[in-house]
Amino acid sequence: MSDLRGRTALVTGGGAGLGQAIAIELAKAGAAIAVVDIDEDAARDTADVLEKEGTEAKAYVADVSNRQQVDATWDAVASEMGSLDIVVNNAGVSFVGPHIVETTDEAWHKSIDVMQHGVFYGMRAAARHMLPRRAGSVVNISSIRGFSSNPGRVAYCAAKAAVIMMTQVAAAEWASSGVRANAIAPGVQRTPMWERDAARGAVDEKTILRVLPARRLGDPAEVGRLAVFLCSDDAAYINGSCITIDGALTAVPIG
Ligand SMILES: NC(=O)c1ccc[n+]([C@@H]2O[C@H](COP(=O)([O-])OP(=O)(O)OC[C@H]3O[C@@H](n4cnc5c(N)ncnc54)[C@H](O)[C@@H]3O)[C@@H](O)[C@H]2O)c1
Repeated sequence: MSDLRGRTALVTGGGAGLGQAIAIELAKAGAAIAVVDIDEDAARDTADVLEKEGTEAKAYVADVSNRQQVDATWDAVASEMGSLDIVVNNAGVSFVGPHIVETTDEAWHKSIDVMQHGVFYGMRAAARHMLPRRAGSVVNISSIRGFSSNPGRVAYCAAKAAVIMMTQVAAAEWASSGVRANAIAPGVQRTPMWERDAARGAVDEKTILRVLPARRLGDPAEVGRLAVFLCSDDAAYINGSCITIDGALTAVPIG
């Protein structure tokens, strides 16, 4: 089991879904957790759950698409929790559904703002803390939609592809300074985002299960355990990688 004792991990979108699961798994490995979310109640709920399990945890409210809020929050975590050793840029939004001709400016800009600009701001703020200390690990949550296209997701796919490339650039720039950057590309995970998309008919579980070789949706805790491994010293030579975790969905030519 990877050991993250003595490290502080910041997880964006940590109030729900994958971010919450990642925060829980990082805490199980011994890390102190800064739960960052735009939703204050959600951030507090996750921090409360972690504290009840004996983890040092604090909730922070920030919109990752706001550069000033990101810089101030990352600084606050480092000074209030003692260090900033791990950053997981996970927060995301879904406007999945309309094809390109019907995609609104608002959906396009919001998607790019949160999932591309937000990851850039989060990586840059992390590096400003990690590079001087010559230690740290950044994990960016991309998606299989960063390399496997899907109708109705032009902005989502564009942002997630950018995340994979930004991760590679970061790894190349930082490797000699002892800071690593990797990405995770989850397939279909049962989270509030998925449930909301299913409820409005933008995705259909039965259709997915017919083409998904694993014949089940992903469990967010599985993504959490992958994040723990990537952040740990066990993954010291894994840098600039994007690890797919999708039950073989993208190993078949449909889906
Ligand atoms: N659910 C899936 O199937 C799936 C698959 C691949 C990748 N992903 C990615 O995983 C990440 C998490 O997705 P999820 O399914 O857990 O979503 P979710 O909607 O269940 O949870 C997202 C969390 O992020 C927070 N958030 C949203 N916008 C924010 C902002 N601007 N600043 C700070 N926090 C913000 C929300 O309040 C929420 O707590 C996203 O980047 C998503 O694209 C999800």
